Amino acid sequence: MKKYNIVIVGGGSTFTPGFLKSFCRMKEEFPINKLVLFDINAERQKTIGEFGKILFEELYPEADFTYTTDIEKTYTESDFVFMQMRVGGYKMRESDEKTPLSMGMIGQETVGAGGMAYGLRSTKEMIKAVYDIRRYAPDAWILNYSNPAAIVAEALRREFPNDKKILNICDQPENVVRSCSRLLSCDYKNLDPVYFGLNHYGWFTHIYDKTNGDDLLSEIKELIKEKGFLPQDAEQRDPSWLDTYGMVQPMMEDFPDYLPNTYNQYYLYPEYKVEHLNPNYTRANEVIDGREKRVFEECKTVIKAGTIKGYVNIHEDAHAEFMIEVAMSIAYNENNRYIVIVENNGAINNLPDDAMVEVAAVLGSNGPRPMRVGNIPLFQKGLLENQLACEKLLIDAYFEESYEKALQAFTLNRLINDAKKARKILDALIEENKGYWPEFKKAE
Ligand code: G6P
Ligand code: MN
Repeated sequence: MKKYNIVIVGGGSTFTPGFLKSFCRMKEEFPINKLVLFDINAERQKTIGEFGKILFEELYPEADFTYTTDIEKTYTESDFVFMQMRVGGYKMRESDEKTPLSMGMIGQETVGAGGMAYGLRSTKEMIKAVYDIRRYAPDAWILNYSNPAAIVAEALRREFPNDKKILNICDQPENVVRSCSRLLSCDYKNLDPVYFGLNHYGWFTHIYDKTNGDDLLSEIKELIKEKGFLPQDAEQRDPSWLDTYGMVQPMMEDFPDYLPNTYNQYYLYPEYKVEHLNPNYTRANEVIDGREKRVFEECKTVIKAGTIKGYVNIHEDAHAEFMIEVAMSIAYNENNRYIVIVENNGAINNLPDDAMVEVAAVLGSNGPRPMRVGNIPLFQKGLLENQLACEKLLIDAYFEESYEKALQAFTLNRLINDAKKARKILDALIEENKGYWPEFKKAE
């Protein structure tokens, strides 16, 4: 069996230890030759890298594990590059969330003004990283789930139009499917979803039971009405995530045709959400005080003990397992179905060909083969076209370094929706993102 060379970009991420554990657990299914962690923040990565060394020594001695900040060492001979960079770290996530909220607008990691701020930061670094990768590994598969994936996907589509080995992917549709399996008390592997949208903005039109072909959507709807909606791993989630999944119930009451992605809540109830989000303590704070602390403490404990024995709970990461299964589907030409982000080209019949859309696709060695969903209804089409125009204008602004285009993008965003507010938040975010954003020029 071929052994693969893996890179994780964002080695210092709070998600990395989970990935490392999953790679160890899945070593029979997906054997690796070497795994390299890469991060530009050497100090942050060191803690996770040292933890990884001990983990691999004990559980996976046959694989070569290293961590580095050297680009050439990282990418040379790599087969799969998992990209999970967070440009600006949690400090900038906090800014993305709090600055808009302080002005009465949704502040969130990937949607609204904060998502656009993050989008411009990620675009710059992702483009650079893809050039670095292609210099040393022209054939590696790039699996990107750096956020905001919708905006990053549009930027990479424009900069690398002929690169067929970049796959943008998000775990949230899969998380919603798994949550349905909890509700239905069935195995999520038996659920076959039909889905359309943009990243973090989509709907399930059907969820089929693979064992008998039944469409379970109406049963799911009834169950949600009765019991609400919980993430599959609710017991491990922070309160804000439970609120987020909880919003699926009112969304389905108001718009009962389809099951929504949890992120739709921001677009459908912006005023309600602004009233209920705490501008002084956002999700970034919850993560800093929760997951980040936990993960780094675990790593430090293991480093101090010099062993994982008694310190590491190996069965934990659905997100990592999902991404590794995606890589396996490509590596082994398994042609499993995943919801991925692809250039539309007719997958959603009544959206433009050059939109980066999220739909189910068969995924094999030749890349994703998207499944068509036909025409989508006017309501969803209207919402998505608005967001699509916003994202495209934002990427125009990036490439043209145009303040006007940025202002148009911000004005068009449904969570801002007013040119005066747009200018105010844009100007504030330009200040906050100095050094991260392109320098926008105003037309004479
Ligand atoms: C989901 C989304 C990701 C997002 C993450 C945030 O997994 O698909 O795109 O980054 O949630 O999670 P967090 O726990 O950091 O708020
Ligand atoms: Mn996502």
